[in-house]
Amino acid sequence: MEAIIIEGGRPLRGEVEVGGAKNAVLPMMAASLLVPGPVEIHNVPRLRDVTTFLDLLREMGATGGYTNHSLHLDASRVTSHEAPYDHVKKMRASIYVLGPLLARFGEARVSLPGGCAWGPRPVNLHQDAMEGLGAKLTLEHGYIVGRAKHLKGNRIVFDVSSVGATGNAMMAAVLAEGTTALENAAAEPEIEALADFLNRLGARVKGGGTKTITIEGVAELQPGVTYENIPDRIEAGTLLVAGAITGGEVLVRRVRPDHMTMVLSRLEKMGCELEVAEDTIRIRVGAGGLKGVDIVTEPYPGFPTDMQAQFMVLLCMAEGVGVITETIYPDRFTHVPELRRLGAQITLSGNAATVTGTGALQGADVMSTDIRASSALILGGLAAHGKTHVSRIYHIDRGYERIEEKLRQLGARIRRVAED
Ligand code: UD1
Repeated sequence: MEAIIIEGGRPLRGEVEVGGAKNAVLPMMAASLLVPGPVEIHNVPRLRDVTTFLDLLREMGATGGYTNHSLHLDASRVTSHEAPYDHVKKMRASIYVLGPLLARFGEARVSLPGGCAWGPRPVNLHQDAMEGLGAKLTLEHGYIVGRAKHLKGNRIVFDVSSVGATGNAMMAAVLAEGTTALENAAAEPEIEALADFLNRLGARVKGGGTKTITIEGVAELQPGVTYENIPDRIEAGTLLVAGAITGGEVLVRRVRPDHMTMVLSRLEKMGCELEVAEDTIRIRVGAGGLKGVDIVTEPYPGFPTDMQAQFMVLLCMAEGVGVITETIYPDRFTHVPELRRLGAQITLSGNAATVTGTGALQGADVMSTDIRASSALILGGLAAHGKTHVSRIYHIDRGYERIEEKLRQLGARIRRVAED
């Protein structure tokens, strides 16, 4: 296993480039199963979640791989319609193959994901949507087994806004007969990107990026398409927090500021000065220093749950109190006990964390528990005085490409070490 060691307390300065959005690429990889031929996606981060998904597609008989930051995929010859437990337990996003498999092959066997470190994380909305489109689903030995002669367009109203269920339903509906309307759909930029990608392949999706998505089914999709992926708004936000938390000045390049409105607004409210251009954002802390603010995580365009842990550390370095209310995953606080080891003053009550900023953290040994929690611990280490040792760093490689190199480029003293 590997760990990251940080000597904190140095202001980060310089420029850094953001990679492509992981959460946009994963459903596109699943969507490649809809197409009997090659597709290519540019600006794909080199991450463990992407290679895990590639392994799954290859196991089904598809081919694919990276050339630098481009991903080529070809699902001409798919021989298996199963997502085994071994894959789904490593990465819940494997559930994305359910819709495409049902749509193209009329059958799918996908392991039911279990819970995760921050709660039960059900997939009932994915299942309801497939049934709404006419699939018959049964649960057999831990697997969702789906069959559908022909999917049929329908009106599907989601009880809760779900990124995954919206993407899955959209992918199933593109080859269904007739029109599908997805209501209370997730409006996340990654869903908008998936809609754009599907349209490039010949699908007829309207309203991607809004709460109502309409899909006119088509008989087949066309291979031979290339698509430029959107930038990763969570990586961009994390790097901006790195600049602010160390009292430095950082310019992030290749970003989409319009995807980050709420994060940028919270940074400004906390006392950061931002210079926002078309595809760059510069951050520094204003003369008044960092101040506590309240944050509520919500579906897009609200504040993203995937930036919650990073802002919690930033609040530790601010003056005053900030309350973070987590409405998407009420138990997503596994980073709190670790942040306390760095000297953070955080109290939890239900789905709310009250952070009393002390303006200082101390280096310590901590353990990462998931992708975003890992990045929060690294941010804490960058801000803390002394040495921080973050173990179980494999989580970070699921979602951030070469994070230590990007941070080192900004002047951080950070290194990766192998350990038992
Ligand atoms: C995606 C992101 C994840 C992010 C999350 C919320 C990917 C690969 N992952 O996860 O990083 O944190 O969106 O922005 O894109 N729910 C149900 N039933 C379902 C599905 C979801 O009740 O069938 C609930 C969840 O428990 C949660 C809420 O809906 O409370 C939103 O979850 P969802 O948007 O589906 O998250 P994911 O797509 O799994």
